[in-house]
Amino acid sequence: MEIDLTLNETDVTLEAARSDTLLDVLRDNGYTGAKRGCDTGDCGFCTVLVDGEPFKSCIRPIRQVDGGDVETIENLGTQDDLGPVQAAFVDNAALQCGFCIPGMIMRSKALLEATPDPDEAEIRDALSGNLCRCTGYEKIIDAVQDASTRLAGDGDVAADGGYPLTGDASPRRDCHEGGVDE
Ligand code: FES
Ligand code: FES
Repeated sequence: MEIDLTLNETDVTLEAARSDTLLDVLRDNGYTGAKRGCDTGDCGFCTVLVDGEPFKSCIRPIRQVDGGDVETIENLGTQDDLGPVQAAFVDNAALQCGFCIPGMIMRSKALLEATPDPDEAEIRDALSGNLCRCTGYEKIIDAVQDASTRLAGDGDVAADGGYPLTGDASPRRDCHEGGVDE
């Protein structure tokens, strides 16, 4: 079957099997920023935006997305020119292995578009479906707050390869298996 999408602001027609998920189709077509973790809707690593809302693409049947507007992490910036949310994650040392980060960033982008100045409880609630095994979540909360400042035009936008703008520079936190509320 053929699927028509607006994918990262470009109209495309992609081949898909009827049983494919959105994640299958994205990754088969080179959009590998969305990661396959659990493949059961539990970890959030595969989060992308569909019509501006965050969805776990591993459990989104592709036929339900036909004609939709899909945005992936590839649309936010490049290695040499990070977008403000990406730069905030790097500068706050909010990633270690990085596998959860594309989903975290897409979920954070959606939050910041709906709620430009979220408090900590709102950030924790928004990210509660996205798991991270490495960071302990505190740096991720710092990054989202920093991204909010940057998007409001009050902060530094350029990433410098990981030097933190705020807080403790220590990259290692205790490991947690669960969500940000743990
Ligand atoms: S890979 Fe989609 S939620 Fe885990
Ligand atoms: S940085 Fe490793 S899972 Fe989050």
